[in-house]
Amino acid sequence: MEPTTAQSRLTPKGRPVYSSAMPRRDQAFISSDQLSESQIQELFESARLFKHEFQKTGKVTHCLKNPERMHNSVLALVFAEPSTRTRMSFQMAGARLGMRALALDNPQVASLSKGETIEDTLRNMGAMGPDLMVVRLDDLPDAENILRDIPCPVISGGIGTREHPTQALLDAYTIQEFRGQVKGEKVLFVGDVLHSRVANSNLLLLNRLGAEIAYCAPEAFQPKNERWKGVKSFRDLEEGFSWATVVMALRIQKERHQNVTIGLSTAEYREKFRIGGDQLKFLRDDGILLHPGPVIRGIEISDFAMNDSRCKVLDQVSNGVFVRMSLMSILLGLEVESR
Ligand code: CP
Repeated sequence: MEPTTAQSRLTPKGRPVYSSAMPRRDQAFISSDQLSESQIQELFESARLFKHEFQKTGKVTHCLKNPERMHNSVLALVFAEPSTRTRMSFQMAGARLGMRALALDNPQVASLSKGETIEDTLRNMGAMGPDLMVVRLDDLPDAENILRDIPCPVISGGIGTREHPTQALLDAYTIQEFRGQVKGEKVLFVGDVLHSRVANSNLLLLNRLGAEIAYCAPEAFQPKNERWKGVKSFRDLEEGFSWATVVMALRIQKERHQNVTIGLSTAEYREKFRIGGDQLKFLRDDGILLHPGPVIRGIEISDFAMNDSRCKVLDQVSNGVFVRMSLMSILLGLEVESR
């Protein structure tokens, strides 16, 4: 069944992703750039409806005009890098929409360990005919094209240091929820900006939605690519926190530091860049503290700061399920409606 016009309005590039007539190259959701601003707002509105309905009734199927469409449908997950939040929230989102989820996330039990390439692994998974696949890849030079080449609809669950589009969507949704808008917000990234796909995707999306971006990071973690040219930076957290309405701490991505001279020890990082009570004193009362997770407690954020009422890290995680349900509904041609 083809999606209705209303659903099509929400699909990347305004086209029905579920349509077999659609060129395969349009079936992969890799960047929030594929959505217009009005599509993003509609996606947020569906997420808000799902959240409201779930909080009221513990279910979301009431929000779906055509929930039967999900019966016997299959969500496949292939994660070539570790994940807790992204993988589980996509599984949770799929389950709440009525899908069955199958995951391949341990190379030791997959034929990857026998020498099959990730490209062929994904082609084979696609050939089994899942209704939707979520894929996380490391920094393969051709990762985006590998995703576009999978013969079924695909959502990126993050690619190496490059992009993590659904994280950016859930972060923007959370900012809008707690701050009332994204436009005009002052978002400060703290920590390992250089290696963060989350920061890259957020920069793209939040800029488009009208937020102002800045960062505070040790020299070795400052972004180098063109995309970050001209972005404001602060030398110390106090100055940055006084400026920001939203602070987003980032994980120190140790697994990506093999070829990097960090120039400071973990103790030195903690001393200068850990977010604790002394830094939060400089954040306005209605400001918020975010982190995409996993949080390295005591080094990136103190226990005290994690317990501050302005810390919305677990709200990001909850919202991630609803935002991903919303995106999946769009890609699967489900109609979301308020009751
Ligand atoms: N935010 C995020 O991507 O977390 P995971 O790596 O646990 O999925």
